[in-house]
Amino acid sequence: MKKDYGQYFQKPSTKSARKRLKKTVDTIDFNEHINIKDIGVGKHYLIQTYGCQGNEADSETIKGILEALGFKETNRENHADFILLNTCAIRENAENRVFGELGRLKQYKKTNPDLILGVAGCMPQEENITNTLLEKYPYVDLIFGTHNIHKLPEYIETALLGKERVIEVFSDEGSIVENLPKKRDHDSKAWVNIMFGCDEFCTYCVVPYTRGKERSRAPESIIEEVKNLAEAGYNEVTLLGQNVNAYGRDFKDKRYTFADLLEALGHLDIPRVRFTTSHPNDFDEAAIKAIAKHNNMMPHIHLPVQSGSNAVLKKMNRKYTKESYLDLVKTIKKHIPDVSLTTDIIVGFPGETEQDFLQTLDLVKQVDFEGAFTFIFSAREGTPAYSYEDNVSHEEKKERLQRLNAVINAGYLKGSQRFEHAVVDVLVEGVSKKQADIVAGYSQHNKLVNFKAPASLTGSIVKVKVTEAKTWFLKGELHEVI
Ligand code: 5AD
Ligand code: SF4
Repeated sequence: MKKDYGQYFQKPSTKSARKRLKKTVDTIDFNEHINIKDIGVGKHYLIQTYGCQGNEADSETIKGILEALGFKETNRENHADFILLNTCAIRENAENRVFGELGRLKQYKKTNPDLILGVAGCMPQEENITNTLLEKYPYVDLIFGTHNIHKLPEYIETALLGKERVIEVFSDEGSIVENLPKKRDHDSKAWVNIMFGCDEFCTYCVVPYTRGKERSRAPESIIEEVKNLAEAGYNEVTLLGQNVNAYGRDFKDKRYTFADLLEALGHLDIPRVRFTTSHPNDFDEAAIKAIAKHNNMMPHIHLPVQSGSNAVLKKMNRKYTKESYLDLVKTIKKHIPDVSLTTDIIVGFPGETEQDFLQTLDLVKQVDFEGAFTFIFSAREGTPAYSYEDNVSHEEKKERLQRLNAVINAGYLKGSQRFEHAVVDVLVEGVSKKQADIVAGYSQHNKLVNFKAPASLTGSIVKVKVTEAKTWFLKGELHEVI
């Protein structure tokens, strides 16, 4: 019989998550602290990942830990002994999908009473969500947050052997844990966390609460990881952080910036370096120069603008103006003339007027974005904007989103067309799902390219002659295997 709660019972607190404690962040070594036992041998796990690349990277770590415990991965729900949803809290619809999935997965608890069903990631970091999970989803056995993934071996052991419900969500971020095992999804491109958390507190965003304060990994650890990946044959790394441009800002003992890190990685033997996500307010010219200087820094920058209206930007606490954003774009284009710029935009922020929205459309046209993730504002409990007066109807917000997307889609096509008849370098990711003789990969400018070539090229960088530009992808012919 499952007892209700066992030795672990810690819920998050929104109040504590808001605080930025002065204590210094230490680094601990997973190998020295965690006792790995063979508790998963003969058992299977399945992980569903929602949300950003940060979550994808976390899922690779969770998989790494589970495999170290002896578990094997399965994609069959009825075959799994452990199903984990690694969740996203950024918008309400992401959360609703998770609640829907939990309702659907409940059936497997009937066919397999020993199944452990878990919820991890950003949703449990929210106090109201963990309360809902505890009250309305009593069949969820394991709940943990973003700050304690390294404790998974203990939680699994308790849930499996003790048959206890495990709920442990820390509001404070704690240490940076190095040397966590990883089962990477790809063998030619890899995520590399460079920092965790966010101190920007944009008024609409839950991330500063769900991911904690900014903590940068030591440059030596990052450089070592990238070197090891290059030696293992990886062709591309993507540096991850909620605001990579703030990298190093939290170092107490030294001055070391994002530009310094790019400069160091520029000298390594890794063919491609990307990064995401940038904050316009912290993007300095030194970083732009480092990207321009090194051939392995890819000429694509994702630079979320959120809005083109100064009034809205102010209410969002973005700390820049339409004019200063356009100045930054100008500086980027001066140093990297062929750069591809993409962005994130929120429409229907509380109080956004038609005039505000027209400012956003104007900015989009001026920048010539080649892609964007566009969203309707979603009110998140615990954030300041949750209680802002909102007099824009949902119908109007939907209509603005459609008008914005029409301009963005034109930008996608224009961005594709500039490569028509050009020869581009493509990192081949694999065979197309629809056609076995077609492979797909990404160019330096992050354009999806489809072309006829053998599957054996997967993982390598090849030259492709672009024959046709479509809105969402380029068609090409294999030109040269490098
Ligand atoms: N509502 C809508 N979109 C949001 N984003 C973040 N928070 C919200 C919210 N409450 C968007 C921003 C951010 C991207 C990751 O998600 O555009 O850049
Ligand atoms: Fe959220 Fe703003 Fe931080 Fe991005 S920079 S994660 S939008 S608070």
